[in-house]
Amino acid sequence: MTATLTNPLRVGLRQERVISPQCLVIFGASGDLTHRKLIPALFELFRQRRLPSEFAVLGCARRPWSDEEFRAKMEQALAPVIAEDPAAWTTFCGGLFYEPVDLQKDEDVVRLGKRLEQIDRQRATRSNRTFYMSVSPNYYGSGCRALAAAGVLADPKRSRVVIEKPFGRDFASAQDLNRIVNSCAKENQIFRIDHYLGKETVQNILVLRFANTIFEPIWNRNYISSVQITAAETVGVEERAGYYESAGALRDMVQNHLTQMLALTAMEPPGRYEPESIRNEKAKVLQAARLAEEAEPWKCCVRGQYGPGGNSADPLAGYRQEPGVDPNSTTETYVSMKLFIDNWRWQGVPFYLRTGKRMPKRLSEVVLTFREAPVHLFDSAGAGPTANQLILRIQPNEGADFRFEVKAPGSGMRSRPVDMDFSYDESFGEPSDEGYVRLLADAMLGDPTLFTRSDEVEAAWRLYTPLVELIEQQPWQLPVYPYEARTWGPAAADSLLARDGLLWRRP
Ligand code: BG6
Repeated sequence: MTATLTNPLRVGLRQERVISPQCLVIFGASGDLTHRKLIPALFELFRQRRLPSEFAVLGCARRPWSDEEFRAKMEQALAPVIAEDPAAWTTFCGGLFYEPVDLQKDEDVVRLGKRLEQIDRQRATRSNRTFYMSVSPNYYGSGCRALAAAGVLADPKRSRVVIEKPFGRDFASAQDLNRIVNSCAKENQIFRIDHYLGKETVQNILVLRFANTIFEPIWNRNYISSVQITAAETVGVEERAGYYESAGALRDMVQNHLTQMLALTAMEPPGRYEPESIRNEKAKVLQAARLAEEAEPWKCCVRGQYGPGGNSADPLAGYRQEPGVDPNSTTETYVSMKLFIDNWRWQGVPFYLRTGKRMPKRLSEVVLTFREAPVHLFDSAGAGPTANQLILRIQPNEGADFRFEVKAPGSGMRSRPVDMDFSYDESFGEPSDEGYVRLLADAMLGDPTLFTRSDEVEAAWRLYTPLVELIEQQPWQLPVYPYEARTWGPAAADSLLARDGLLWRRP
């Protein structure tokens, strides 16, 4: 008899998952996110035949649009994608509906309930509903309360709520919001979305670490000397000053996207690939993380704001000249900082985080720098012996790069660094799905693995509390240094690393 080593649970997880009949309700459907990300992602799922035929989207916002107007707006916004497959759009579009709803008004909520029942009858969506909060963050709590009062969250198997970022403005407000949403629905009905977790390359951090034997033994303080996590953007604030002015780079990018990359890079191996195992490990590592100088946070963080830049052919306005921005604004568009993780794996290894708008390149990456060889036997053919580096390219040119020393050609015995490169594009030849495609499908499937649990979001806010408080109470301690648009941020950010004898990577 042959013994079987296959764990039936794992086989179950590998099977293609099927989305049940359902209605996705988008609150804030007249906003940007709906036509830029959500509807394109749903249309993509439809084209991949991953949506059930019993499916509907109900757009809700205060504007008094009709179904036809909503469809026309979406059609206009998605025109280039629709042109690739107009027949698919015609069918998909038949499942788009719109209801003017203000969740603060009882009569609107009653009307919403009736419309949902009508859609259930019309599209056979069987009272399965995913509510997507794409409204102003001030309304997340009251929106959830209105849905709970209407009774549409009562069945945890049939209803879920997706909540966009930012989830809270600081530790206390995140705790308050958690208390409210957890009083309206069970934790497994709440999907706090961070679109970075939808990126193939961010998920790949887990696979690279835990599906190979070569990395894990050296993935610790004995071999790694520092870690840099970067999310650089070329765009400026665009048309989002209304939101960005009160957020800034710390709240907009660091507390969520960079922290998620940090958590996946630094977490312990989970017992199994199962939502709570993964989220337990992420929460644990964030609870062990701290600013390098908690008592004097200004020593381990640099803020910046882009000024004018570019060239005569492409002049770029400074942040303060952007539409809707206060001409004396002190909102940061750049932030870098140094953290430590006080656990057995990472004690003493600095983690440097940086993000900025109007940088010279769009680039997100995680760079692990290994300790140098203890003895240098060979002269270097380059600037000096380099430490090995593993570079996880989150975007663009998704992939990974491993840098190591080889013998430089020639009669001597000199070493020089080379790169071993893995590119998603070359290896798989097909573009990966947009993050929202994966995350919307997972939310509708009820799979919370790639969503942030309440304790994780609180741990992330707690980590940055000394900075948030400093910016609010003693902003002069953490000045906003200007930097020219299309440069790598203020010089002070270089000093942050220079003090440790290091440089930011300039790809
Ligand atoms: C969003 C931020 O969450 O992420 C934006 O609000 C930022 O300010 C964007 O531009 C970056 O996302 P991506 O996927 O382009 O790196």
